[in-house]
Amino acid sequence: MAPVPSLPIKVGHIDDVQELRKAKPATVPERFIRDMADSPKVVPNLSSSLDIPIIDLSKLMKTDKDEVMQLKTACEEWGFFQVLNHGIDLNVVEDIENVAKDFFMLPLQEKQKYPMAPGTVQGYGQAFVFSENQKLDWCNKFALGVEPPCIRNPKLWPSKPVNFRETLEIYSREVRKLCKTLLKYIAVSLGLKGDVFEEMFGVAVQAVRMNYYPPCSRPDLVLGLSPHSDGSALTVLQQGKDSSVGLQILKGQTWVPVQPIPNALVINIGDTLEVLTNGKYKSVEHRAVTHKERDRLSIVTFYAPSYDIELGPMAELVDEKNPCRYRRYNHGEYSKHYVTNKLQGKRTLDFAKIQSKTSN
Ligand code: OGA
Ligand code: NI
Repeated sequence: MAPVPSLPIKVGHIDDVQELRKAKPATVPERFIRDMADSPKVVPNLSSSLDIPIIDLSKLMKTDKDEVMQLKTACEEWGFFQVLNHGIDLNVVEDIENVAKDFFMLPLQEKQKYPMAPGTVQGYGQAFVFSENQKLDWCNKFALGVEPPCIRNPKLWPSKPVNFRETLEIYSREVRKLCKTLLKYIAVSLGLKGDVFEEMFGVAVQAVRMNYYPPCSRPDLVLGLSPHSDGSALTVLQQGKDSSVGLQILKGQTWVPVQPIPNALVINIGDTLEVLTNGKYKSVEHRAVTHKERDRLSIVTFYAPSYDIELGPMAELVDEKNPCRYRRYNHGEYSKHYVTNKLQGKRTLDFAKIQSKTSN
């Protein structure tokens, strides 16, 4: 990989949003206030036909043809779905939620033992901030590389809460299995051999990001998380049990809220699958908004190929009607590009796009 420019990154003063919330200032600090064009709009009362699809994994695992079709439609038209009967023990789901919440509730001083250094993506803090004038998200994040072991930074794995590390290990192992299973049926839904992704990915990279959104006195002015697509192949998102509705996905011109369903996990297609499928299954822009009185917790796992893998659209999905839309590149380089740029909708994927001659 090319060396990172050694210029120091100046990010200016960053307030911790949980501390801000405790202090209850009458106004939200300027650095969190979005331009009108970016601030969250009130989403019109949407009919349930605009709910993201639900996939039953237990049916998929019997290769139920209708369920595979549902999965195909979900991936083609939504890029997001909720999965039921995902096979992860509900105690494991509950345990990770508890340790994540316990971590965020620790005193700031304790959390700051695991700082996210400016320009890096692991540890506690605000991620993806690269300049002094960049707007900030109303969210605290705690991110860790999990697999393979060489991407772990053991100094950032917290000693409190005491069962954090063990719980994350168990959870991550289960989510990894789920990702492999989902990728198998995603391959089947594309008419490909079930093990294509498993064979291609090598030792897959897995990272976790826990997001804690405290209530905000002016949810109309701030964003919990800036619009972005994920750089992963697949993302698994768990929403806290008592959390407010906060995740929204961009469907056409509308931000559609993802209504939490008890015991379901939210799955989305990342940029890497968009490239591999030559745009047949696209990553979808999403963001998070905050709530006036309620907080929100999410635990997000990113699953992606090994960094040393060369990627490009799969030959089976390129033909005269679907000309190749993305170049080949090294996945590690894409990951680096992703984490060294601020979140800006789907802009990051321009890295891989072949500009068609007819578009401008
Ligand atoms: C993410 C993400 C949304 C949420 O961490 O990439 O999209 O609801 N999170 O926290
Ligand atoms: Ni995301």
